Amino acid sequence: MRQLKHKRDTWGSRLGIILAVAGSAVGLGNFLRFPVQAAGNGGGAFMIPYFISLLLLGIPLMWIEWTLGRFGGGFEHGTAPGIFHSIWKKNRFIKYFGVIGIFGPLVIFIYYLFIESWTLGYSFYSVKGLFAVVDQPSMQAFLKGYQGLESNAFFHDLWPAYIFFFITFVLNMIVLRHGIKGGIEILCNITMPVLFFFGIILAIRVLSLGTPDPARPDWNLNNGLGFLWNPDFSALKSAKVWLAASGQILFTLSVGIGVILTYASYLKKGDDVVLSGLTAASVNEAAEVILGGCIIIPAAFVFFGPGEIQAIAKQGAFDLGFVTMPLVLGKFPLAPVFGFLWFGLLFLAGITSSVSLAQPAIAFLEDEFDITRQRSVKIFGVVSFFLCQPAIFFLGRGVVNELDFWGGTFCLVLFATIETILFAWVFGMDRAWEEIHHGADMRVPKIYKFIIKFITPLFLLTILGFWIYQEGLPVLFLKGASDADKPYIFWTRIGLIGLFTALAVLVKIAWRRRAREEEKKLL
Ligand code: ALA
Repeated sequence: MRQLKHKRDTWGSRLGIILAVAGSAVGLGNFLRFPVQAAGNGGGAFMIPYFISLLLLGIPLMWIEWTLGRFGGGFEHGTAPGIFHSIWKKNRFIKYFGVIGIFGPLVIFIYYLFIESWTLGYSFYSVKGLFAVVDQPSMQAFLKGYQGLESNAFFHDLWPAYIFFFITFVLNMIVLRHGIKGGIEILCNITMPVLFFFGIILAIRVLSLGTPDPARPDWNLNNGLGFLWNPDFSALKSAKVWLAASGQILFTLSVGIGVILTYASYLKKGDDVVLSGLTAASVNEAAEVILGGCIIIPAAFVFFGPGEIQAIAKQGAFDLGFVTMPLVLGKFPLAPVFGFLWFGLLFLAGITSSVSLAQPAIAFLEDEFDITRQRSVKIFGVVSFFLCQPAIFFLGRGVVNELDFWGGTFCLVLFATIETILFAWVFGMDRAWEEIHHGADMRVPKIYKFIIKFITPLFLLTILGFWIYQEGLPVLFLKGASDADKPYIFWTRIGLIGLFTALAVLVKIAWRRRAREEEKKLL
């Protein structure tokens, strides 16, 4: 077996990896994406497909990725090209499918970081006067000014946002430079409890709202919670709602991205993956449906009513979090404190996810080119810094939507499909079942043997098909894109193809190098 010159990092404790995976999972997706998806897809109508997707996709994929990651780590591979190759040695091409597991998280990273930095900026402005803005058009102008989309009374240019982006970028690099045990694990051990603490305070505040406007008795907390929790079975017929719910499950749990493979590759062979994976998923779901579901949607409901929330959710991914929420918080006594808690929570959720999105590319350099962590982080830092720029400067030109569409949606479903088939059909379900249970602290319910083998891949293939038909093809042919945005979208696509090709070439070089080294050893 090959041996790296540089010793691979490990996790310091079991709690450490659970919190790190939970930290990766609990992110902006829980507090910004989830409410938008839930509200935009009819509230209670969304939750049934959501929970079914959790049971049939999310949890099985958690176990698959923890198991595959730990398996690959045993061969000193921390990313999908090497892990897939370890499973299917005879297939020369499978490592190139694994490129998606580095490409996807990198693409998400390059726009996620900018959005994460807004939460840092808004934490600052919460204390420095954000709550002087009291109406929706002005709050929207504040956001647009901050994002550099217009010059207005609040902001003349992008510089304030750029400074917060730069601080966020540097903070991420510092954590990554300290490695798995010394950086990511410490970050998550500290921030996850703080995040939950902030979330609980905010949820209690929102849950004590009652009926703030006596003139509108229907806009009360009960109905606000009911908007999300009253099930609506009619939605089971809508492919669009299924796509949104299953996409949300993959994004929020960080499965189908490639990051959990990498985190789990730092486990030891005898470490449990069953209970740990389930715990991490449960922490994420608690943050998403309990905290995420108790803050933004009911709060927005009681102040703006059911019609308005759906309209706001349809306006875009950020209005609920950055426009509606500050308006709601502005109505509370001690608004700057609650504002700081809300945006501080988002920032903590964001940074524990963004470091995980960076880690596959760094692990790829370390494991496949035997480069030290310090150098790998430096290379990653320089490359990703440049890659982040189009998302910052051309946000209004459809670049972020395009990156999110391919990196944050399409790659997830595709990658999840590939790894499930590899796990259940190439590795083989009997072997896979044995591998899952190495060192396990609990048995996976037997029904999951059937689910992982048949239901999860079929479910994924179905959503992949529907997705390509309903959303993929129209987007591919630029349906609905304005003429002004088309050149930007075109160049983003060229950039994405270039990035994927460059990663595939790196995989080829790494494998060639290794083959040469092995030949030398034999001589
Ligand atoms: N799982 C991460 C999130 O929800 C990517 O933001």
